[in-house]
Amino acid sequence: MECRILSIQSHVVRGYVGNKSATFPLQVLGFEVDSINSVQFSNHTGWFCLFRVELETIFYPWYCKDKSFLEVVVSIIQELKKATPGLVYVCDPVMGDHGLLYVPENLLPVYKNEVVPLADILTPNQFEAELLTGRKIKTEDDAVEVMDLLHEMGPDTVVLTSTDLPSKHGDQFLVALGSQKTSKVFRNPDGTSSSQKICMDIPQVDAVFVGTGDLFAAMLLAWTHHHPKDLKTAFEKTVSVMQHVVKRTFTYANEMAGPGNKPSAAQLELRMIQSKADIENPSVVVEAKVL
Ligand code: ATP
Ligand code: PLP
Ligand code: MG
Ligand code: NA
Ligand code: MG
Repeated sequence: MECRILSIQSHVVRGYVGNKSATFPLQVLGFEVDSINSVQFSNHTGWFCLFRVELETIFYPWYCKDKSFLEVVVSIIQELKKATPGLVYVCDPVMGDHGLLYVPENLLPVYKNEVVPLADILTPNQFEAELLTGRKIKTEDDAVEVMDLLHEMGPDTVVLTSTDLPSKHGDQFLVALGSQKTSKVFRNPDGTSSSQKICMDIPQVDAVFVGTGDLFAAMLLAWTHHHPKDLKTAFEKTVSVMQHVVKRTFTYANEMAGPGNKPSAAQLELRMIQSKADIENPSVVVEAKVL
């Protein structure tokens, strides 16, 4: 059956973040993608220059000064959920990263009370998960607890797309975690519902990428669609795509920069088109651990 996705994200003229990071890979995987561009930029914020063309529509930029944009998104999701039973809402809560909030504080209660409860799949980074739950993540146990708290807020699938947790394999790895409720009906004796928790040590590439969070969310949507009850497989395929894309990007960026030079943000734009075959059919290069 045809699967259609409405993707509400930012657009850039050059490069790959937001809708530019999600549309092509989802289309390659056979999804029909309708997109709403929440904002139009010349390029992402990591470039030296940024010419901003804010669209004069109801869709304000995602870091808008007021909360009206988020509330518009909420009403769109509510309408669509009413009209389309079984609709899956993937929410990547854009709030901040590494301890820095980059949206106005008054968006936090909207995310907590209105957006997250509607989400079926939630992909916060560590900082966003901490903001949403009010708990700090210092250990793997903390992460597990935070994911359970997020389940209680609504979503059946939660993925912490990146954390600062130390990896058992050393500092060349970054840690991501996921949790999926295994049954909506079954409850453990203590009243909590049952879930599968997984953890992944991801080989880290020595560069800062932009658009990877957006690509991650898009690929998680695609692979959970194919493996709705098997987060481990969906997670492994998602992270494998990420590995292929960031490694190809890194190699190319270093070639462009030349020996001894650090690649620029422009050179580090994701090599999306060049990764078409890996996106379509990712060889699995990482293994998730069931906790
Ligand atoms: P958000 O975009 O919501 O803030 P995030 O901060 O978790 O999420 P990223 O830091 O881009 O987003 O990480 C998302 C995924 O991208 C990671 O799980 C990993 O698979 C991949 N990734 C990003 N940076 C690297 C890197 N330097 N080396 C290897 N993989 C990376
Ligand atoms: N959208 C725009 C316009 C951006 O400038 C950025 C980051 O600079 C992002 C999205 C975030 O991209 P990601 O979180 O996937 O790295
Ligand atoms: Mg990040
Ligand atoms: Na994320
Ligand atoms: Mg992001």
